[in-house]
Formats: sequence, structure tokens, C-alpha cells
Amino acid sequence: MSDIPVLRTVHLSKVYADFWGRPRVTALSDLSLEVRPGEVFGLLGPNGSGKTTTIKLLLGLIRATRGDAFVFGKDPGDRAVKAKVGYLPEETYLYKFLDADETLRFFGRLFSLPSSVIAARTDELIERVGLAKARHRRLGEYSKGMARRLGLAQALINDPSLVVLDEPTSGLDPIGSAEVKDLIVDLKRQGKTVLLCSHLLADVEDVCDRIAILHQGVLRECGTVAELLRADHRVAVELDRPSPEQIEAVKAAAGSALRSVGPPRERLEAHFRRIISDANSQAQGSVGNGPPHPPGAASAPAPTPP
Ligand SMILES: Nc1ncnc2c1ncn2[C@@H]1O[C@H](COP(=O)(O)OP(=O)(O)O)[C@@H](O)[C@H]1O
Ligand SMILES: [Mg+2]
Repeated sequence: MSDIPVLRTVHLSKVYADFWGRPRVTALSDLSLEVRPGEVFGLLGPNGSGKTTTIKLLLGLIRATRGDAFVFGKDPGDRAVKAKVGYLPEETYLYKFLDADETLRFFGRLFSLPSSVIAARTDELIERVGLAKARHRRLGEYSKGMARRLGLAQALINDPSLVVLDEPTSGLDPIGSAEVKDLIVDLKRQGKTVLLCSHLLADVEDVCDRIAILHQGVLRECGTVAELLRADHRVAVELDRPSPEQIEAVKAAAGSALRSVGPPRERLEAHFRRIISDANSQAQGSVGNGPPHPPGAASAPAPTPP
């Protein structure tokens, strides 16, 4: 794999001007970071922290006030670069009189893909984002979550090496968000690089190799989850159905280092997915025709830090 970073920003800054061209909002200040091939990189920050601005600069949609952005080592405006990038914008704009098939074909043609390739990818992507049953419905009838899924399929129609996702789980229920995260893990497995922007901690914590925390346009921290939490010296020990004597023994051994003893704080999302999955399999058992399981729903919940 080449060692050219997929994304690189050097002192990247953006000041939006007002109507009269006077500098008004400093949306991004002096951002320098690199995203390497195959990484899932999370840009985390509250609303207005500069995430979408960073994406737009990296896609060449707006011009930097200062500094530089490189994608695959080249200028973001380069045509060869654009062909290798998939982008899910913060707001999905879709034509409400088209159906899912027509939409994906439309975007496929924008990339000048051969129609056989477009047809095959359309089938595969519609299946992958769970819209098979709704593929011939007009988008005007889609819920926000369905539109978001189609947006994801659209972002992947050119089989991009780099996928840029701006708040991909917005409008999705917990099962939908979990499926998007599964999809991101899938993309990583295929060797793709992902830039994921979100204000939701759970989105980035679960799937990102590294995370950058932005606040008011300034990079506050960058690293793996483990690195970011290294100042947290607590350790969780989980026991499976311990006897009261075993609990007492652990307490005694821990002495003054003991912080808490109790059932593990199961992640609410994992819990929710299991409840839905159980309900689905019950429905399947009684009717024999229930909705499919959400992918990964039956897996064990991720351990939570104490
Ligand atoms: N086109 C624009 N004109 C003026 N200010 C803008 C524009 N776009 C974004 N901003 C401002 O820049 C800051 C960063 O916005 P944005 O990058 O959208 O943040 P985020 O995606 O993290 O929510 C905010 O203060 C926002 O109001
Ligand atoms: Mg944004």
C-alpha cells in the first residue's frame, strides 16, 4: 500500500465572509492532520465546530482562506481524485420523483460508468443498505432514514477508495445507526479509507481507528480512543455469575483501589438491538415470516469502560 496519506491538511483555515466580503466567522483554524490508507478516521465535534467546513475544503467545494488540503497527495479539485471519492453530504438532496434505482443510475452516469456496472452496483448497493423492498417507490414517499440509506448507496456507486460521510446516522433510529456502523466496518474490511464526521460520541467510538476532536474550529486532540483515554487509569474486571464469596475475595484483594462492584453497564444500543432481534425471531417463530435480523444484532454487547 502506498504511504501517501489519503487525506492531508496543512495549517488549513477557513474564514467565511459576510455579504459585503468582510471576514466574519472563523470556521476552521490551522488544522493539520493526516489520514492514512485503510483508516477509519473520525472527526468529532459539537455543532458548528467546523466538521462540514473541513469536508468541503477536502472535497474542493470551497476555497481555503489559508493553508492547504491534499487528497491522495493531489489538489482536491483534480478530476482523477474526484473519481476515487464517495461523499454523503450532511443533507441528502434527492429527486423526489425518481425511485431508488433511477437515482443510483443517475449518479452512476455522472461518473460515466458503463451501464452494466451501474446495474450490478445498483442491485448490490440497494440490497446492502436494506432498501430492496422500497426500490421502486418514489423518493418523495421515503422517510428520512430511508433517504439517508439511499444517500449512502449513492456515495458508494463509484466504488470509491475514500468515503466521506457527514453525519451519516442523522435521522436514523438506533437499528439504522448500528447498520450504518456495520457498513463502515465492511468498507474498512474492503480496504477503503473512511472519513466520518459526527457530533455523536457513539458513532465514532465504535468504528474509528483514530479520532480528532474539533471545537470552535480548533483541533483539540487527535489519537486512538485508547490514547485519548490514557489519562483514565481505571480498569474493569468482569465476572460471570460470581458467588458472594468470590465477590468478597475480589473486594478484599482490591483494597483501597476498589471503585465499584455491580452488574456491567451494558451499552444501551447493544441492549436495544438484542430486544429487537429477539422480538423478530419470536415473530418468525410464530408467523414464519418476520422481518430480518439487523446484522450483528445477536452478537455480545461491547464491554463498556467503567
Ligand atoms: N456558508 C457559510 N457562511 C458563513 N458561516 C458559515 C457558513 N458555513 C458554516 N458557517 C459557520 O462556520 C462554523 C462551522 O460550521 P460547520 O463547518 O458547518 O460546523 P459543523 O459541521 O461542525 O457543525 C459555524 O459557526 C457556522 O455557522
Ligand atoms: Mg456539519
